Amino acid sequence: MTAESKLQDIGACVFDAYGTLFDVNAAAARCRDALDDKADALASLWRTKQLEYTWLRSLRGDYVDFWHVTGQSLDYAMAALKLKDDALRTRLMELYLVLDAYPEVRETLSALKGAGVKTAILSNGSPSMLVAAVRRAELEGLLDEVISVDSVRIYKPHPSVYQLAVDGLRLPSDRICFLSANAWDASGAAHFGFRVIWINRFRAQPEQLPGKPEKEIHNLAELPDLLGL
Ligand code: LAC
Repeated sequence: MTAESKLQDIGACVFDAYGTLFDVNAAAARCRDALDDKADALASLWRTKQLEYTWLRSLRGDYVDFWHVTGQSLDYAMAALKLKDDALRTRLMELYLVLDAYPEVRETLSALKGAGVKTAILSNGSPSMLVAAVRRAELEGLLDEVISVDSVRIYKPHPSVYQLAVDGLRLPSDRICFLSANAWDASGAAHFGFRVIWINRFRAQPEQLPGKPEKEIHNLAELPDLLGL
């Protein structure tokens, strides 16, 4: 890779959590015994509704934290798939607190820390959800900040959410590299003014919205090279 094609002068890498560091499909995948052929449909509908509810609640001005949104979207998805099972609901919610990190996450964060780049999470997740996921993946020592939208009580892609990272890391937005596997989040962050890398894990289509990511990669292992580390 040429020097010009690398992202220069980055002071911090800020990561989205769900879908980017943590596998949102892992909870349903671990319940295949109970979900059978509905596992993939449940994972997909749960995630879709979860995001829709964040956007709807932000527009309506009736914030509840991401744990509640996650529960309400699971209730919707289970009802839509005719799954009536309180024990399964409890199990899925408990598993959502201990989602697997993607395999390359630890090594990538270690490489960034080793090179003196600050690292942070900026997520819709409630503080307790993020603490649980970070602890489970043993990432505590590899993150300088874990920032939740909860302090501004509105969800991504509201600009006040992205501003939390600028304030928390005390760096201008053009020295922050933001990474998300969610195309709409990558677009929102670019529109805000971050340097954005879209982790297109699922080979999705780019958003047709203002705010384009600068780079697109398929997993986080490619990140250190992209930063010239
Ligand atoms: C998050 C969601 C958008 O972690 O994945 O903020």
